[in-house]
Amino acid sequence: MSAVPAVNAAAPWPDAADRARLPTVVPEHPAVFSLRDVGVRYGRVQALNGVSLSVGCGERVALIGANGCGKSTLLRVLHGLAKPSSGCWSRDSDVRQAMLFQRPHMLRATAQHNVALGLWLHGVRWREARALALVALQRVGLDGIATQNARTLSGGQQQRVALARAWALRPDVLLLDEPTSSLDPHAKREVEALMADLAASHGQAGPAHPVTMVFSSHNLGQVKRLASRVVYLEHGCVLADLPVHDFFNGPLPDAARLFVKGEMG
Ligand SMILES: Nc1ncnc2c1ncn2[C@@H]1O[C@H](COP(=O)(O)OP(=O)(O)OP(=O)(O)O)[C@@H](O)[C@H]1O
Ligand SMILES: [Mg+2]
Repeated sequence: MSAVPAVNAAAPWPDAADRARLPTVVPEHPAVFSLRDVGVRYGRVQALNGVSLSVGCGERVALIGANGCGKSTLLRVLHGLAKPSSGCWSRDSDVRQAMLFQRPHMLRATAQHNVALGLWLHGVRWREARALALVALQRVGLDGIATQNARTLSGGQQQRVALARAWALRPDVLLLDEPTSSLDPHAKREVEALMADLAASHGQAGPAHPVTMVFSSHNLGQVKRLASRVVYLEHGCVLADLPVHDFFNGPLPDAARLFVKGEMG
């Protein structure tokens, strides 16, 4: 691995020349997402700034960085929910994507109904959708509360219903925004195991197309366990983009190194 260029610590974020020198992972497989110099602006806030990233089929990419660094915004761009204000971007329109949001949205209906509706919206007949929803709830250990109003579930339970909803779709690409942040240690392990299972499986596109996963996390242990690649963001810029082993064992730009040190605390 070549030496990582130092980022000017005095500057609030790297300029375009610094960014161009940062190493980036070039995926081995066809790209599912490709972003080039993408920026997202919300009024006066530059949420993403000059982000260039290519994610290949079957990669497990972790997005890390402090609160407000742009992780959720990047996931929303990848899912087509936020439109960049600058740059070029593309995504493979043949793949089925599902996203798990940082704050899952539940309809005022049973957990089973919430999961079934996602399938029904993808063309599955309602009767079948309800049966598949129950299987998905079993998969996340929540079949016991299938008939409970999803809005009355705890935050962690709602997160698992949302994961069941995403899993039931058999997506080719799974985007997860802090999927375990509100879970207790036991549920966290279960959801991580489920994510690992999902990552090892394939979606609608068939066995030659392993599931691609992009997730944000503040839990570096989880990142080590689940990711194949780590993207570190600061002030909307990608400051490091490395295979997971290199990220945790190799040299890092100062900002990323200090972040990791602080989080490992
Ligand atoms: N809809 C919006 N309108 C205005 N500003 C927004 C909007 N969404 C995000 N932002 C701003 O964009 C920046 C990036 O936010 P984002 O939610 O992507 O960060 P994050 O890395 O996911 O943070 P966290 O770790 O807290 O979830 C923040 O400054 C945030 O306030
Ligand atoms: Mg976020």
